[in-house]
Amino acid sequence: MSILVTGGAGYIGSHTCVELLNAGYDIIVLDNFYNSNRESLKRIKEITNKDFKFYEADIRDKKALEEIFKNEKIDAVIHFAALKAVGESCVKPLEYYENNVGGTITLCQAMKEAGCKKIVFSSSATVYGMNNHVPFVETMTTGGTTNPYGTTKYFIERILMDIYDSDNDWNITILRYFNPIGAHESGRIGENPNGIPNNLMPYIAQVAVGKLECLSVFGDNYDTPDGTGVRDYIHVVDLAIGHIKAVAKALESSGVNVYNLGTGVGCSVLELVKAFEKASGIKINYKIAPRRDGDIATCYADASKARNELGWIAQRGIDEMCEDTWRFQKNNPNGY
Ligand code: NAD
Ligand code: UFG
Repeated sequence: MSILVTGGAGYIGSHTCVELLNAGYDIIVLDNFYNSNRESLKRIKEITNKDFKFYEADIRDKKALEEIFKNEKIDAVIHFAALKAVGESCVKPLEYYENNVGGTITLCQAMKEAGCKKIVFSSSATVYGMNNHVPFVETMTTGGTTNPYGTTKYFIERILMDIYDSDNDWNITILRYFNPIGAHESGRIGENPNGIPNNLMPYIAQVAVGKLECLSVFGDNYDTPDGTGVRDYIHVVDLAIGHIKAVAKALESSGVNVYNLGTGVGCSVLELVKAFEKASGIKINYKIAPRRDGDIATCYADASKARNELGWIAQRGIDEMCEDTWRFQKNNPNGY
């Protein structure tokens, strides 16, 4: 079976490519390198000792997509390509809607024309918005997102569901990720953010390696055990394996399926800092700062649907997530 992976050079995409190749799939990777580079593709080949086709292309480029679908036999698409910086999306909403929503529409048009009707989409826990209570369950009302990035995920979910309603031959699989962290155990691929990281784990890792001075902990007066924000951190390799399970099911059936990919366990900012200190042996300098706009106190998954229907369960705990992040950061202090 042959899978087109959009955004396959990026953080989650590269780890998923490794697991797809290990599971025996043929892959075709598409990326425009907006937030990645060729080195990750080289390292996927090095880790797996397998080769694959790559197209440097943009999901908004209909002609390029038509060419790919003409040249390749594609059974399903795993669609990672997107812009993902929450803060930037508030400053550049049009770019986010154009790239994420517009790009997905163009991709789905090309898929439809080529008769390829199976898509696994990278959504986010952010679609649960501000008004639901934890643990988040797939049946909850979505929307109420707090930034344009989150809204692109919400809109795309709706668009994909409408595509299915118009043609029941499609298989639409929506994966709502919680907070992916960690890296491949080889230390060769990992998260490689441009500029100053927005997310907690890469920030901690860069403080540990001496690139950044001090972590700001955004709020210590939330209604949580230690007052800091609680999230459901999931190892990126577990997340990648979730895609293998999801695509296997998608290849066999049609329908719309939505799955949370999380551990079901919450971890606070200060707990993550402590776990990282233990894994790295390095003291993380931090200070308490005001809350960040748009943050909620607590976010974790009810992960039972993925367990029951996909036979998937996250295996790796917080200590392993920190050890693997640290190995990648230490070995690649300046990224790829
Ligand atoms: P990433 O930026 O590392 O990977 C995205 C890849 O898509 C990059 O390689 C980028 O160059 C490529 N890309 C972007 N726009 C493109 C376009 N128009 N055409 C072709 N390629 C394009 O991000 P990631 O963390 O690996 O995220 C992957 C997916 O998962 C995204 O859809 C993201 O929104 C979603 N997601 C991520 C997180 C997270 O915390 N990392 C959480 C929830 C959902
Ligand atoms: N935090 C800090 N200091 C920092 C960065 C983050 O204290 O420098 C705190 C936040 O306030 C929050 C927690 O660490 O309590 C996690 O923050 P992240 O920015 O790492 O992650 P978020 O939960 O805010 O959001 C992430 C992605 C979103 C995605 C969401 C759910 O950025 O795109 O997970 O999957 F939608």
